[in-house]
Amino acid sequence: MGARVVVVGSLNLDLVIGLERMPDSGETVFGDALEQHAGGKGLNQAVAAARIGVPVSMIGALGSDASGAWLRDVVDAEGIDGSAVAQVDGISGTALIEVDASGANRIVVIAGANAHVTAEHVRTSIAALDDIAIVLTQGEVPTDAIVSAMQAGRAAGARTILNPAPVRDYPEALYSLVDIVIPNEHEAAQLTGLPTETADQATVAARHLVRLGAGCAIVTRGGEGAVWATADASGSCAAFPIVPVDTVAAGDAFCGGLSAALAEGHDLTDALRWGSAAGALAATAAGAVPSLPRRESVERLVTSAE
Ligand code: RIB
Repeated sequence: MGARVVVVGSLNLDLVIGLERMPDSGETVFGDALEQHAGGKGLNQAVAAARIGVPVSMIGALGSDASGAWLRDVVDAEGIDGSAVAQVDGISGTALIEVDASGANRIVVIAGANAHVTAEHVRTSIAALDDIAIVLTQGEVPTDAIVSAMQAGRAAGARTILNPAPVRDYPEALYSLVDIVIPNEHEAAQLTGLPTETADQATVAARHLVRLGAGCAIVTRGGEGAVWATADASGSCAAFPIVPVDTVAAGDAFCGGLSAALAEGHDLTDALRWGSAAGALAATAAGAVPSLPRRESVERLVTSAE
């Protein structure tokens, strides 16, 4: 097995409003600040893995606008191979994000260029790479590109990982192409129709996703940690205690950190610790890409708990 993490996914300009509390429908509230950050679930996961220190290639699309040029510079600055990040006419992906005083968030995404990632571009780009350990994708590119990523990952002998965020109308056949599916508790409830408030309920939902065809399902539960299930086992991983500042990209940091650890040869139990530590640290800082931790901090947190 190779060492490279390939991320097929979105790149977004994040427009972030900090505010005391979220407005109700029809209500107007004042925000505290407006910031712009690099984001997009795909880019966040690629940067999270790259900051752990594994080689990362990104497959996606940027627009022909100024934010497209800026996001490409971010890809390059992080040492990510962006040769398969296409440029298409029109706007880049853009996310409007509200973060309240507790660190909770609400996100609306305009797909922009992310909607133009094609199944063929994904297939040929993965086929042109070698030494692939992991192909990781999420829900912010078209569904046929997601299926193509998982098929091409399998064809390349890589482990395939799906973070089904946001939840879409995924074809049920997709799960049998997925080695590890990683929803949060809300996404797991939407995907399975099952309650996921408690660890036991989330484990039942994880088992349901395995019955649909995934090799392993990990349900992340924010400050409550994560639970996982395979066909013949299940378990949990405790959260690292932190005071959240901004939870945007914490789930992406989990997926990128876990993928990097698996690519380095760690087993699932260890990789869960690396993912949890990366996710916890990301929640202690503002922004998406700016909040993603580097290897030293993640390793320090993982080893401090051993
Ligand atoms: O998961 C966080 C990300 O979701 C943000 O960076 C935003 O771009 C949206 O894609």
